[in-house]
Amino acid sequence: MAKVTIDGIEVEVQDGINVIEAAKAADVHVPHFCYHPSLSIVGQCRMCLVEVEGMPKLQAGCATPVKDGMKIAVWNEKVDKARKGQMEFLLINHPLDCPICDKAGECPLQDYSFNYGSVESRYGEFKRTYPGMDRTAIGPHVIQNMNRCIHCTRCIRFTAEITGTSELAFFKRGASTEVGVFPGTPLDNWMSACVTDICPTGALTPREFRFESRVWNLDSTESVCNGCDVGCNLFIGHRNGQVYRYRPRVNPDVNDHWLCDYGRFSYEQYETDRVVVPKVRTEDDYLAISTWEEALQSIGGALTKEANTVVIASAQMTNEEAWMAKTLFAGQLDAKIGVMVDPIGPIKMKSRTEWIVGDQAGPNFRGVQALVGDTSIDDILTGGAEGVDVLYICDARFSERASDPAVVANLRKAKFLVVHSWDANHPLCEVADVVIPGATHPEKEGTYTNLQGRVQRIHQAYSPKGQAVSDLEAFRRIGARLFPNHDAFRSADALDIFAELRASVPDMISEDARSGGVSA
Ligand code: SF4
Ligand code: SF4
Ligand code: FES
Repeated sequence: MAKVTIDGIEVEVQDGINVIEAAKAADVHVPHFCYHPSLSIVGQCRMCLVEVEGMPKLQAGCATPVKDGMKIAVWNEKVDKARKGQMEFLLINHPLDCPICDKAGECPLQDYSFNYGSVESRYGEFKRTYPGMDRTAIGPHVIQNMNRCIHCTRCIRFTAEITGTSELAFFKRGASTEVGVFPGTPLDNWMSACVTDICPTGALTPREFRFESRVWNLDSTESVCNGCDVGCNLFIGHRNGQVYRYRPRVNPDVNDHWLCDYGRFSYEQYETDRVVVPKVRTEDDYLAISTWEEALQSIGGALTKEANTVVIASAQMTNEEAWMAKTLFAGQLDAKIGVMVDPIGPIKMKSRTEWIVGDQAGPNFRGVQALVGDTSIDDILTGGAEGVDVLYICDARFSERASDPAVVANLRKAKFLVVHSWDANHPLCEVADVVIPGATHPEKEGTYTNLQGRVQRIHQAYSPKGQAVSDLEAFRRIGARLFPNHDAFRSADALDIFAELRASVPDMISEDARSGGVSA
């Protein structure tokens, strides 16, 4: 360990870390552009200059390791002057674009210009531009505006050091230097949109989010990706019950600063017709809109202890939902519960120390399977649900196979079919006897268990649409109707249920819901 003094504050930090990281321990921010904690250090932008006692010249904070006894000034007159000068250099050619730039509001260049920039430039108003390079699609997800680039090389280092695909490079020289892709090799790797997070300007922006919303008009909720079993930590950017984007949330042990493109844009699946009210099949075989009371009455009439009930859980359910399903169906109704998950990928995700490989198309197969058991439901999917009195499907999208007409026909062979679904266009919704309006992942509260056994919390970004409810609340309503004196069905509070679950399931690894910022 090293004792260092930063702007008069003495802190003890790991020996050898750089000044930018050491200053964080003293709660002092060292302005920087090219430094990123998960990329190599290049000392390219000179924005991080600091004064180190005993050294004649200012030092680059990103490239200066701390030693015991070092005294560092991040904020003094000499450093301020150098920082202002550096901003003046960077802004010689940067356009006055903030009003029409998607990065505005979360742009380090904008913030630093505001804090350390000068209202006047000694270099005049002429700016070097890159004609024809102000809206170039350099890959399926990334739009480049070269005029805004400050040549920090973060994007180039990302493709060289993280994905190893090296699509990006510098071309030309001097003031004409530009970032580009090689002919015939677009920026098209499985994590390509990460460059839009780490670019410290609006030079690289994600196609899907461009001009959709000003960032300050979005609310942000901490959650976990439900695309696969890696369980990358993310922020849901949303407004008025609609997701506008997912952004990575730093967790060095899982996804570090990254998201894969598949997971990042997986919220687009929610842009579909939603089931917003319960539906019950009438005597003349018409699936009619109903009240919750009618739906519960219909389900309650079918679910008896004597009935042969089979429940198909889903890898999209939270641990709390799986626990409530087990308490209700297995505990009170002697039903069989099974869960399956589709294979996916493999999807590679880089934590700070290792590659993690996801291969299941659901965030919580491990958690749900550990809680409900591993009854096989394959014979019902392939052979049909004859002999099953009640088939209860907790999520119409429990598998891609559930959309296959042959599988739908097999599942429909049960005497009574209940389906939870948020997707109104799912074929199982057409054949069910009762359809329960379900909640999507941003509408839920609870935990997922990822492939490392890490239990991570997801938070509700906004309320479910219409009369939709989470599986947790649906099971609680059914349980409270059938077993009014049973304590388990009094509350659908995810935190209470998690506490109960942790006390009862010794294998449940402790919750790990770290949070962090998106940019470094
Ligand atoms: S495009 Fe962005 S990340 Fe890449 S060099 Fe330019 S400013 Fe840096
Ligand atoms: S690796 Fe998996 S969990 Fe991570 S962003 Fe991609 S799909 Fe989501
Ligand atoms: S952050 Fe140190 S030179 Fe760019």
